[in-house]
Amino acid sequence: MIERQTIDEILARTDMVSLVSSYVSLKRAGSNMSGLCPFHSERSPSFTVFPADNSFYCFGCGVGGNAITFVRRIENLDFSDAVTFLANRAGITVREEKGAEEPRVDRNRFLQMNKIAARFFHSALYAEHPDAKAALAYFTEERKMSSATIKHFGLGYAPNDFSFVNYMKKAGYTDDELVSGYLCHKSDKGVLYPAFRNRVMFPIIDVQENVIAFGGRVMDDSKPKYKNSSDTPVFKKSRNLFALNFSRKNAAERLILCEGYMDVIALHAAGFPYAVATLGTAITSEQARLMARYTKRVIISYDSDEAGQKAADKALRLLEAVGLTATVLKIPDAKDPDEYIRKYGVERFRGVLDQSKTKFDFYYDKITAKYELSISQQKIEALHELCAYIATVPSAVEREIYMKETAKRLDVAYGGVEGEVRQRLARLRAEAKQKNRTEAHQALSGVLDRVNPDYSKAPRAAKAEEAVLGLLQLYPAYRTKLLGDEPLLTEEDFFTDLGKRVFLFILQREKEGGFSADMLDEAFTEDEVGRITKMRVARMQLSLNDEGVFLECVDSLKAAVAEERRKKDDGGGSVGDFLSFLEKRREEQ
Ligand code: CTP
Ligand code: MN
Repeated sequence: MIERQTIDEILARTDMVSLVSSYVSLKRAGSNMSGLCPFHSERSPSFTVFPADNSFYCFGCGVGGNAITFVRRIENLDFSDAVTFLANRAGITVREEKGAEEPRVDRNRFLQMNKIAARFFHSALYAEHPDAKAALAYFTEERKMSSATIKHFGLGYAPNDFSFVNYMKKAGYTDDELVSGYLCHKSDKGVLYPAFRNRVMFPIIDVQENVIAFGGRVMDDSKPKYKNSSDTPVFKKSRNLFALNFSRKNAAERLILCEGYMDVIALHAAGFPYAVATLGTAITSEQARLMARYTKRVIISYDSDEAGQKAADKALRLLEAVGLTATVLKIPDAKDPDEYIRKYGVERFRGVLDQSKTKFDFYYDKITAKYELSISQQKIEALHELCAYIATVPSAVEREIYMKETAKRLDVAYGGVEGEVRQRLARLRAEAKQKNRTEAHQALSGVLDRVNPDYSKAPRAAKAEEAVLGLLQLYPAYRTKLLGDEPLLTEEDFFTDLGKRVFLFILQREKEGGFSADMLDEAFTEDEVGRITKMRVARMQLSLNDEGVFLECVDSLKAAVAEERRKKDDGGGSVGDFLSFLEKRREEQ
């Protein structure tokens, strides 16, 4: 537990605009600032920072709150680590409240544990043991790595015995810590054993240079080839990239996205210190956004097999969705970049890199490869498929270029290609419109509302509730009306479960000396904080919020809730009446 006073001081010293600016490029929008949301993919900015309120809200995805909420989300930290993060930034030391300490994950302790483990694995590589020698030889001989490369990446070896467990326990880590950090497992009989055994080790390091996880590879053909840390309290594989700690410093021009750790290491060693890889999973949109923080262009360099090319297709879409320019590398006569460099050398790889295919070339080759173009029927099929693809490209300028290319390469009239694309585009637009209509309808009726599932039961009451709760958050004068012998509102005046909880929280804090929206993180989930922020932001954007307006909102809330209650009672009553009517009739017979 961190003292409230400290938290308030940290928030007071944190300027939302400058905090957010280190992740998002913001532009002035009236008295606020807006930019592309770092939490969902969008092309036009709906992410807004409200300097007056020191808060943020995304009108696109509903994420919102204060600096703590922002840091929790963007740095993937829990509440107290987010506070510490902001404290360090503001130059404030965090005092922990004594006595109130609950068992919770200490991020720094975890990171320290990982660092100690990484050092253990690294030195195990140089041990005087035949297994260790074999591991080192695997790197230096089989994979042709220099000792500088091994040191640079902090590669290591996990021995096939219990020395790791003993070492870590001696260093002071408990069984629970080692298990939840994914360094050890526990057998059914309660014996602690190392998670990685007889594998060469790849530490995963984040951009703050913390060791956050490990990948371990076998040295022969046994399965599974790799074992990776699963998500731990300090690690989410979907939010990190291998070697981004090095690559981000050389990323201004481009990043190379690979499939394997080995590819990344080979590329860095060969003089391309801007290669990264996902951590044993397909690329996620979080990873795409992470790359977009450091670069504008990504060269996808996946394996040349079918699985690799399919994955490249997905990566291309995700990267473009976050505004990155993506191209795809075609690696001839080798299964992956690592093998290519070993077979043909660095200079030839540089040539391949320069010829990375644009998005259109990638799809053109992919589609036409399936057909025998000298047969007219097959050429027509290919044309249909190309037109279908071109119709999905959002930019009209790009579409035109691709239509011209298609006509030229397949030697057909431009008009024909253009006509078909236009038709398909019209169909796609009609479908999208219908989909939007359905979604808008569902959103209005609250069907999709996961944060406040009661909303749809009585939208009118719920809407009035949000207005009142928005105003209560903003104006201390309205909150004083909740205190005293005759409070203006009670829990009973609220309709949804979320509304009741927000009201009770405001009331409680007001009684204890004053509510502030900055306290919301203590009692509500990140999604709920987003919603509660929306209530406030919606009111902030209105020019008139005086007492008359507030009282009107209160009245309409009370009326709407009373109406709901009446409906419910009526319903209950009529069924009851009907039953007693049946009863009576039975008695009479
Ligand atoms: N991977 C994994 N689990 C496996 C196989 C692969 O997590 N059983 C992940 C690893 O992150 C690996 C990446 O997928 O780095 C690519 O797999 P692969 O091409 O098979 O491995 P490389 O690292 O390229 O290793 P090598 O060159 O030795 O084949
Ligand atoms: Mn590979």
